[in-house]
Amino acid sequence: MARAVIVGSGSEVPPLQVTNSMLARIMDTSDEWIRERSGVETRHFVEEGVATSDLGGAAAERALLAAGVAREEVDLVVCATMTPDHYFPGSGSLIQAKMGLRDVPCFDIRQQCVGFLYALQLADAHVRSGMARTVLVVGAEVHTGFMPWSAENWRYLLGRGEVPPTPEEFEWNTRFRHLTVLFGDAASAVVVKAVPDQEAPARGLIESELHTDGADFDKLYVPGTGFKHRPYTDPEQFKRGDHVPFMDGRFVFKMATTKMIEVAERILKRNGVTTGDLSMLLMHQANKRINEYCQKQLGLPDSKVVHNIQRYGNTTAATIPLLWDECIREGRLKPGDLVLMVAFGAGMNWGASLLRV
Ligand code: ACO
Repeated sequence: MARAVIVGSGSEVPPLQVTNSMLARIMDTSDEWIRERSGVETRHFVEEGVATSDLGGAAAERALLAAGVAREEVDLVVCATMTPDHYFPGSGSLIQAKMGLRDVPCFDIRQQCVGFLYALQLADAHVRSGMARTVLVVGAEVHTGFMPWSAENWRYLLGRGEVPPTPEEFEWNTRFRHLTVLFGDAASAVVVKAVPDQEAPARGLIESELHTDGADFDKLYVPGTGFKHRPYTDPEQFKRGDHVPFMDGRFVFKMATTKMIEVAERILKRNGVTTGDLSMLLMHQANKRINEYCQKQLGLPDSKVVHNIQRYGNTTAATIPLLWDECIREGRLKPGDLVLMVAFGAGMNWGASLLRV
């Protein structure tokens, strides 16, 4: 039987870097509050017109290059995003076309912050069953479309305009501050290849454990712009701010810490390994405080946990592959290393993947 091995990775982070102080130009927030409560210091935003499939395609090109895999070899694409270019089709098919891949199947999956782990499990299942040999797994997001401020406010925020927000605009922007300050745009991709068990017995995906509980979906969701509404989008929804995600931050914080610790402990125990055996824990980057809490409960030293939320913010489906890619490039992950990936996000979805580099 073949095992699914990550043989290459690549990322695309848009060049436009936005600091916390820049956001404070258009809403009532501060660098201090954002750093202290979330750990975010900067995030990157795309220029208007750049879409998820642009970032995803660029990241995927880099991943193929790093893997030394020709585009003709790709026989499956799995694209995880909650911010597709269009309502339909999903961004997977756009990435396939932009990259000039063969007309292979392209899945689009919507598991938000846990999207990458769901995508990885899908790739693993295809490889183990023999249905695919080379899978491109992409996590990509352009969150800037959610940002509720005006074009003029965008210019002021970026230092490209002279007109500050009116008091009404400032108040409106402030209404969403607990959410908007957390997110950034980015994409990251990995190439998963079928490697015969006898060639690399220790490498690859060992196990994934995934969960969904939709009972509390409305603690983190987009209330408007859906087909529950007729028409599915209209100006009234925008006036109410229903196109911006609603988030009960405290509820999410509590559920994220509980579920991520539970799933991490279970997958390790089932596979007969301890946190001491792990080389690295890669956690979804929603809030540095969530991750510090989980790290402490799991008893892992700082040397085995990486964060990049301070530079990129929460990039939803891209966070974990982005961490993976950086660790590989910096030599922090080497062949044979045991890695645990853990994530929690809207849905509610959560899960963990255990793998050997
Ligand atoms: N700047 C300044 N003040 C702010 C900001 C801000 N950006 N945001 C909120 N505040 C204020 C609030 O208005 C409130 O003021 P009040 O006490 O006068 O009413 C105060 O700060 C505390 O607000 P809380 O929302 O209670 O702050 P909390 O400590 O819970 O932190 C946060 C908020 C950072 C959002 C936190 O709850 C969190 O990280 N939650 C989890 C987020 C997460 O994991 N999201 C999932 C990923 S998203 C996805 O899956 C799509």
